[in-house]
Amino acid sequence: MEKIKLHDKYFRRFISNETLEKAIDDLADKINADYRGSGKVPVLLCVLNGSILFTAELMKRLKFDVDLMSIKLSSYQGTSSTGKVHTEMGLTGDVTGKEIIVVEDIVDTGRTIEALVNILNARRAAKVKVCTMLLKPEMYHKDLVLDYVAMEIPDDFIVGFGLDYDGLGRNYKDIYVLDNES
Ligand code: IMP
Ligand code: MG
Repeated sequence: MEKIKLHDKYFRRFISNETLEKAIDDLADKINADYRGSGKVPVLLCVLNGSILFTAELMKRLKFDVDLMSIKLSSYQGTSSTGKVHTEMGLTGDVTGKEIIVVEDIVDTGRTIEALVNILNARRAAKVKVCTMLLKPEMYHKDLVLDYVAMEIPDDFIVGFGLDYDGLGRNYKDIYVLDNES
């Protein structure tokens, strides 16, 4: 499908599933190189709901033992950030003393990831790394280092592969961008 309609808006196909999966392959190679044989068992922390597909795709490519936890945060309403990060569901496990790899769908302003790192530090995680499928570099001005980034994209609103527009669009396997022309 080249174009889709969600609520009142049209979106056009922007990144194919094939391209996404290739980027996830390459990212998994890097993470495997860092952890395989290290004896570490990091926690993959899936940031619900957006990261659910990315976490699944990434996790099945990892060749070392991992633990899995989730947290549900939200900051977007419609097609823009509210600037406030809400914890809708807390951490599903104890992170004290553990090495955490945060698995995010997308880093935009970085407020979500910053709030999450603060939560994990307050809970005394031993180490926190950040892994994101997508990054909007034009929007990200935080000092926090993003350890693993699969793809960079321009500052446009996107949906698909877990990402939504007011709840819809998460189930598309490709990524779609807001089509202002239509
Ligand atoms: P940040 O806090 O501004 O970095 O925004 C990060 C969160 O906002 C992500 O975890 C997404 O849930 C959401 N978000 C950011 N950009 C988009 C987008 O283009 N489409 C859908 N959700 C987005
Ligand atoms: Mg998210």
